[in-house]
Amino acid sequence: MTASGAGSIERPIIECVGLTKIYDIGVEKVQALRGVTFNVRRGEFIAIMGASGSGKSTLANLLGALDKPTSGDLTIDGAAIARMSGDELARLRNRDIGFVFQQFNLLRRMTALENVLLPLNYSQSKVSDGATRAKAKLEEVGLGARLGHTPAQLSGGQQQRVAIARALINNPNIILADEPTGALDTHTSHEIMRLFSTLHAKGLTVIVITHEPDIAGYAERLLQFRDGKLISDCRQDIQQDNRQDNLALAAGGEP
Ligand SMILES: Nc1ncnc2c1ncn2[C@@H]1O[C@H](COP(=O)(O)OP(=O)(O)OP(=O)(O)O)[C@@H](O)[C@H]1O
Ligand SMILES: [Mg+2]
Repeated sequence: MTASGAGSIERPIIECVGLTKIYDIGVEKVQALRGVTFNVRRGEFIAIMGASGSGKSTLANLLGALDKPTSGDLTIDGAAIARMSGDELARLRNRDIGFVFQQFNLLRRMTALENVLLPLNYSQSKVSDGATRAKAKLEEVGLGARLGHTPAQLSGGQQQRVAIARALINNPNIILADEPTGALDTHTSHEIMRLFSTLHAKGLTVIVITHEPDIAGYAERLLQFRDGKLISDCRQDIQQDNRQDNLALAAGGEP
């Protein structure tokens, strides 16, 4: 995890210039992104909104190095995506980016601890203290007492916390969450967003896609998409209540 605030001349952690993405599905081509340009500074907390089909998940797949743009330039943590091999992309993903999904994507037969350990199997570095680290990540998300539970034995919010601990296991610089609260009730959604806020307060760059303005309200910057284009990019005030909670949590206290 890298702390923010190293100065204004620091290179953005994500640089997008004129990104396009065309899906070629044989009979027709779908233009999902139509020239998207923006930067993300290290340590920013960004929300992405837009109607269904506006290209949000397509963008998330590019920012997460899961897919390459059709044209345009994308640089993640100094690495130019277009010129990277499959192996290099996999390494970048594993080292730099933690993914969180709407449906948690946990393996059902595995315990919380085993789920969190999973990404370490693909890691380049040998980690002898994997279990210790996984336990620490589960404690960090408030699940220290649920290490041996399988997904079926956990609530939706707890399952999403396991998924967040899993996303954190390789100490990424970026957390990329595609509708992380889409399957959760309102109360649990806000708990999960407070957890993201805490991670942001600790220095992580956090990007959350959502349909809900309340959820987007946790971020300090809002990007809005329509028909594959970025139509608005604005700073927003984080609700004071949220900010105070986050600072207390980041300091290890109760909100
Ligand atoms: N793998 C794919 N193959 C072909 N077309 C695709 C593919 N993925 C997405 N699309 C199309 O690209 C456009 C953008 O889709 P995308 O999933 O990025 O939208 P979204 O903003 O995430 O929508 P939602 O809010 O419903 O999740 C849509 O028209 C979609 O049908
Ligand atoms: Mg989507």
